[in-house]
Amino acid sequence: MDRFIIRGGRPLKGTVTVASSKNAVLPILGACLLTEEECTIRNVPQLEDVRTMLRLLRAVGAGVSVSGRTVRIRAPGPLEKQAPYNIVRKMRAGYYVLGPLLGRFGEARVSLPGGCAIGSRPLDLHLKGMAALGARVELKHGYIDARARKLRGAQVSLEGTKGPSVGATANVMMAAVLSKGETVIKGAACEPELVDLAEFLNKMGARVEGAGTAEVRIRGVAQLGRAVHRPIPDRIEAGTLAAAAALTRGKVKIRNCRPEHLVTVIDKLRQAGAVVETRGRTMLVSARARPKPVNISTASYPGFPTDLQAQFTALLSIGRGTSIITENIFEARFMHVMELNRMGARIDINGNMAVVQGVERLCSAQVMASDLRASAALVLAGLVAQGKTEVLRIYHLDRGYERLEKKLASLGAQVERVSSG
Ligand code: UD1
Repeated sequence: MDRFIIRGGRPLKGTVTVASSKNAVLPILGACLLTEEECTIRNVPQLEDVRTMLRLLRAVGAGVSVSGRTVRIRAPGPLEKQAPYNIVRKMRAGYYVLGPLLGRFGEARVSLPGGCAIGSRPLDLHLKGMAALGARVELKHGYIDARARKLRGAQVSLEGTKGPSVGATANVMMAAVLSKGETVIKGAACEPELVDLAEFLNKMGARVEGAGTAEVRIRGVAQLGRAVHRPIPDRIEAGTLAAAAALTRGKVKIRNCRPEHLVTVIDKLRQAGAVVETRGRTMLVSARARPKPVNISTASYPGFPTDLQAQFTALLSIGRGTSIITENIFEARFMHVMELNRMGARIDINGNMAVVQGVERLCSAQVMASDLRASAALVLAGLVAQGKTEVLRIYHLDRGYERLEKKLASLGAQVERVSSG
């Protein structure tokens, strides 16, 4: 299992390029199952979750060819309608084959997924959406079993008790594009990754309108065809790098990002005292002092993303005062806090709130990564901790960041990956 060894204390300086969005690429790869023609996805990030998704597509019978960062998928069929547990358990987004298989073949069996341990993550809204389109959905032996003779357009609300669901919105969108009639999703999630998915589906010949708003309309078509697509930049990677720049009091130019997808995040960086300049698809982030305290409350888009909560907790752990961080999306998403406290942070958890009393400095320690974004937070903390920090179980990080250590090292950080069997 790989680990990172980080020697902290160097401000990050230089230019770094953001990869394509993991959360945009994963449903788009799933959507390639909707047609028998070849789809080409360019600039695909080299991530463990992407490799898992490609393994899953091969397992259901799609032809997958990878050449550098270009991935070509061809699924002429017949396909297996079952997404097996041994693949889906590695990644929650394995459910993204459910909508496409059900939509195209009227049949899908998908193992209940794995993913990060950040709290209970039900799939009721996915199932509700499929049922609204006319599928008979059952949970059997750890699998979701969905069947329908022909999906029919319907009106469905996907607003859950915790707000809208990104995954359910994407899945229902993918199931509905080949259904008969019109589907209206109310309470849809508005994340930019869903706009990107809709753009890809429309390139394939689908008729999806309103993605990025709370009401998405899908007019079913008889079949879809080939498409070529380059997914949007990863706003979470960009936000992570921006937090790292501010935390280390560095100056980093972040290329290939969409500042318009990061409005709330940029606002919080500025409140913390960082200077953020945006020009086109570039963002320049610098800071000269310890961050000012900032209160953050996670919300669905365009609110502050839960996927950046851990990294900003690390940033504010050395703030000049007390910050309050409220996690509204995933109840157990404070796994990084105990580890940050072992590095000298002073953070108390109170329900879904973390009270972060800024300390002057963090100290090094051996820490354990528990989930994807928590791992990033620990790496960031290591960049400013005095001495040698070891972050164990880096495989979580590799699920969603492409060689983060290389990007950080190119900005002057001392980060080394050590493999130990
Ligand atoms: C996606 C992202 C993940 C991000 C999350 C929230 C991908 C692959 N993953 O996850 O990185 O942290 O959005 O922005 O894109 N919920 C239900 N019932 C459901 C589905 C969800 O109650 O059927 C709840 C969840 O428990 C959670 C909230 O809704 O509290 C949001 O979850 P959701 O948006 O579905 O997250 P994911 O799509 O799994």
